[in-house]
Amino acid sequence: MRILKSLLILSITCMLNNMVQAQHKHTDGEVQSHSHYTTHDATPAHKLIFPSSTPDRIISNLTEDAAHSFAVNWRTDQQVTNGVVEVALATDGPEFLLRDVRKINAVSQKFENKNRNEPLVRATYHSALIKDLQPNTTYVYRVGNGEKDNAYWSEWFQITTARTGMEESFSFIYFGDAQNNVKSMWSRVIRSSYRDFPQVDFMLHAGDLINDRDANLEWGEWFHAGSFIHATVPSVMTPGNHEYRDGILTSLWKPQFSLPENGPIEELKETCFTLDYQDMKLISIDSEGFDESLEAREAQVKWLDSVLQSNTKKWVAITTHYPIYSTKEGRDNWELREAIKPLIDKYGVDLVLQGHDHTYARGFPENEDKGLTVVENAGTVYAVSVSGPKMYDSKDQEWMVRRGEYTQLFQIITVSENSIEYGAYTPVGTLYDAFEIIKKNGKKKLINKIPDDPIRLKKDIVKPE
Ligand SMILES: [Fe+2]
Repeated sequence: MRILKSLLILSITCMLNNMVQAQHKHTDGEVQSHSHYTTHDATPAHKLIFPSSTPDRIISNLTEDAAHSFAVNWRTDQQVTNGVVEVALATDGPEFLLRDVRKINAVSQKFENKNRNEPLVRATYHSALIKDLQPNTTYVYRVGNGEKDNAYWSEWFQITTARTGMEESFSFIYFGDAQNNVKSMWSRVIRSSYRDFPQVDFMLHAGDLINDRDANLEWGEWFHAGSFIHATVPSVMTPGNHEYRDGILTSLWKPQFSLPENGPIEELKETCFTLDYQDMKLISIDSEGFDESLEAREAQVKWLDSVLQSNTKKWVAITTHYPIYSTKEGRDNWELREAIKPLIDKYGVDLVLQGHDHTYARGFPENEDKGLTVVENAGTVYAVSVSGPKMYDSKDQEWMVRRGEYTQLFQIITVSENSIEYGAYTPVGTLYDAFEIIKKNGKKKLINKIPDDPIRLKKDIVKPE
């Protein structure tokens, strides 16, 4: 009897609680019975599209001086007008809270955009540069509105600054196009890359991160897929043609990323740039910008020449979305190749990392009729890769050393004092392609380390019915 009475009291309490949840008083005194997202409830995936007062889309970007600084950007709703970053040396326990926690004010800007077939989204974007850091040091940071009462903060993230010398190697992950079904089918690629190589120093995206320039849902998916990885491992990205439409870069690029502003002209800021990471110079060429405007084309070629001419770093990598050598049948970016390849050859660029063709290929022009395992006096290695699920057929060509179709990939590239090691992996961890470049005393040797597995071609994987 006593048990029955207890159960009765419990069920009445639950009913009352439910009523309180369903019909509660807002601070303005209005009684409402709904979730807090009524205005958005009719929008599918509204949690990916609309901001709240709690920071979202938090991302760290590489700066020109990654040993002493990092950039962080995030988004809130427009109730939040100020942004603050708190940063401290990471400690074994929570004692960093008792020590020097620096506060850095962000630059906050109200922003709204309405993509076709999407509702209007109003947000505040916040951007901060965290500088005066020590090299090769792990920090904790969080972002928020900085207020004591009514505080909205992210969790504390850990981030490690770059080393200065080459006593130790560094690694980065290179992703080809994510572009389509980013939440559904790209997420496993970035997540498995991080699971397999959690010590990676930064991530590089070679354009077409999304499909439709200003689609808030698609950007929401990209940030959802990477989640805390975007805030923990600094990123760098070059835009693809899908970050552009009608010759115009997405209005979200600059609010949501902080990329170096050292490109040649105003319209190429944060899309064409260079940065040094330990002993490597990394250069982003905005190949859609190159395609869209003669001014942007000429400016980038002249700028690339001057950047390479004054380079003092041992290693040079270029990332650009359109391939210098296309993999897809019928595609040939000959104007880009004719403009840029002479400079790549003249200055002995080591790697060119590209996307756009939704297939995989890696090779070099000197490969023709050779197919050697060890290549003396090696030139530049060109790679085209894809990380998302959209797939094209490719055309076998002489420059290709390893080719693949219908395969989602990420590449781990490890740069040491005298070598670059490159491995292309599928999301289940299978090594699909590998090589090593050894550069000593001005001589460069390439060693192909292709796995024995046969090449993956769509016709063998997707059998016609
Ligand atoms: Fe593309």
